[in-house]
Amino acid sequence: MHKSAATEHDTVQRDDIMRDLTRRALAHFRNGTTDQAASPMPIEVDAYRDPARYQRELDRCFRHLPLALALSIELPEAGDYRAMTVVDVPVIIVRGKDGRVRAFINACRHRGARICKPGTGHSRLFTCPYHAWAYSTEGQLISRYAADSFGDVDHDQLGLTELWCAERAGLIYVLLTPGERCDIDAWLGDFIGELESLKLESWSIFETRELEGPGWKVAIDGYLEVYHHNSLHGKTVGQMTIGNLLVLDTWGPHQRLTFGRKTLADIVDEPEEQWDVNAHIRLIHNCFPNLSISGILGGHCLVSQIFPGPTPETTTTRQIMLTASAPQTEQELKACETFSSMVLQAVRDEDYAVGGTIQASLRTSANHEFIFGRNEPAVQNYHRTIARLMDESGARA
Ligand code: FES
Ligand SMILES: [Fe+2]
Repeated sequence: MHKSAATEHDTVQRDDIMRDLTRRALAHFRNGTTDQAASPMPIEVDAYRDPARYQRELDRCFRHLPLALALSIELPEAGDYRAMTVVDVPVIIVRGKDGRVRAFINACRHRGARICKPGTGHSRLFTCPYHAWAYSTEGQLISRYAADSFGDVDHDQLGLTELWCAERAGLIYVLLTPGERCDIDAWLGDFIGELESLKLESWSIFETRELEGPGWKVAIDGYLEVYHHNSLHGKTVGQMTIGNLLVLDTWGPHQRLTFGRKTLADIVDEPEEQWDVNAHIRLIHNCFPNLSISGILGGHCLVSQIFPGPTPETTTTRQIMLTASAPQTEQELKACETFSSMVLQAVRDEDYAVGGTIQASLRTSANHEFIFGRNEPAVQNYHRTIARLMDESGARA
């Protein structure tokens, strides 16, 4: 198919999807209903606090699954890199001279020192700060300080330890365990079409920040339901969305949450043909286990990566605020700043502040179980996915 025809076809198809989602959201709005799971689901609080279980689950759900660690637009040019530590593994992701993105363990092959400080940057080579061994952006050991006095070693055997890495739909996926590979297309399945529809490679980054938050599951649970939006976010993101109205679609472990905007009220009596199919709903895409992509206001998007900390009680969240295009006017700049400060307030001062109180209660005997309601089906799915992965790993062991 000709490219422009294909694009047109995609747009029409996407409009059909958005129209259908708007129709489903509007039906709930009219009836005061929401998508529901079959029944409420209890989950034992040890799932949130048992340190041994935490390590086993991190191993299965983070160290042996592909994680979206960066956006393609963070590393557009050859030599652009991002270094970070993810569940104890220091990683460096770098775009090579051939345009391919590769990932390595950020550790020197001489005696293991970190070769690159955490952060995003640009470099032609990475020189270890300890004894100045230098590596190319393709991970090859290319020079050693005082090589003659050191003696001969085989450079081909001493490249940086490579991790499986793939780029799809504007996201860079990495597998943290050396030697393991992943069939990313099988893992994402048809969810790839959803990710592609976001066109992440064409946005611009407005701002990036890191937030300390409560434990892994406490933090993520909050991204997976809209039950709390009226009560907790009444002054921030809840102003725009209808609390407790969820349309849910799943692709294996990955989920798309559709929230209704308050403007649904304006189209109750409007014929479908007149709808602006992008105006009255808000989509949140969750790629298991820790990526949430949320288009909150037209032209702005929030990407959140939630990284489990060293204990079950902490996480670090990387928030990347995107804009459809870099702000050109004062007004556009102001709109970006308003968006950025609103999501900061909603997540840090509302979601994670409440999350902190949940962490405190986990240290008491107040609850033996938490309960997820029928109106929290995406949270239920998330916990079922963890349980299923743990069962499968047990079956293989
Ligand atoms: S540890 Fe890197 S050069 Fe020695
Ligand atoms: Fe929230």
